[in-house]
Amino acid sequence: MQDLLYEGKAKKIYREGEGLVRQRFKDIATAFNGEKKATVVGKAALNARFCALFFELLEKEALPTHFVSFDPPDSLITLELKMIPLEVVVRNRVAGSLSKRFPAEDKKSLEPPVVEYFLKNDAQNDPKVEEDLLVSLFHYDKKELLELRSFALKVNEILGFFVQTKGVDLIDLKLEFGRSPDGSILLGDEISPDTCRFWDVETGESLDKDRFRFEKGDLIEGYQKLATRLGLGGS
Ligand code: TMP
Repeated sequence: MQDLLYEGKAKKIYREGEGLVRQRFKDIATAFNGEKKATVVGKAALNARFCALFFELLEKEALPTHFVSFDPPDSLITLELKMIPLEVVVRNRVAGSLSKRFPAEDKKSLEPPVVEYFLKNDAQNDPKVEEDLLVSLFHYDKKELLELRSFALKVNEILGFFVQTKGVDLIDLKLEFGRSPDGSILLGDEISPDTCRFWDVETGESLDKDRFRFEKGDLIEGYQKLATRLGLGGS
């Protein structure tokens, strides 16, 4: 039996060895802070493969991430990081919670892309927080926030360009960062259609978790379409 360190909504984290953890994805979809929840067979394996593809792409572009290896069918081996309790969202188009705030602007392009921060705090439903508040109230270092911002924008650019060549629009994405034992900042957590919005360039069809959040179609069918587009094969 492996040593379970943490169980989240979408994955379980186990100790794997000195400085390493295993992130094992779950066949479960949740939305609205866990209010909506369902078993989705096949989601774990698909998300592990998306993560491997995206983290390898970012590593190739010299962005430091926690990714070490993909352990099929449903696990990543990653560096153990001390996580920064922040969700960094980059938006290229108005969608999701932003389109709730500005319904008349739904789907409009955002140029340049917009960076938003949300505190990771389930009890308070991950509240949106301004950069100034992060500094003045939550004692974040301003220089470090700039580093997170520029890191997140680079991820957005690299991922957005990659999927665009496959006929897919990256609408927005959510990133989480952590520190390695030497103090450097690495990209952690996951990058998958659970944490990004991907739309078909031609049809505008959602190929991401909005299918589950907003009843826009079968989740696995959308994830498989995305996998095929990105060259991962259909299952
Ligand atoms: P939002 O439009 O609902 O604020 O979401 C922005 C992006 O962040 C979208 O790609 C989905 C992702 N996201 C998560 O990964 N986890 C979350 O808990 C939420 C609310 C959004």
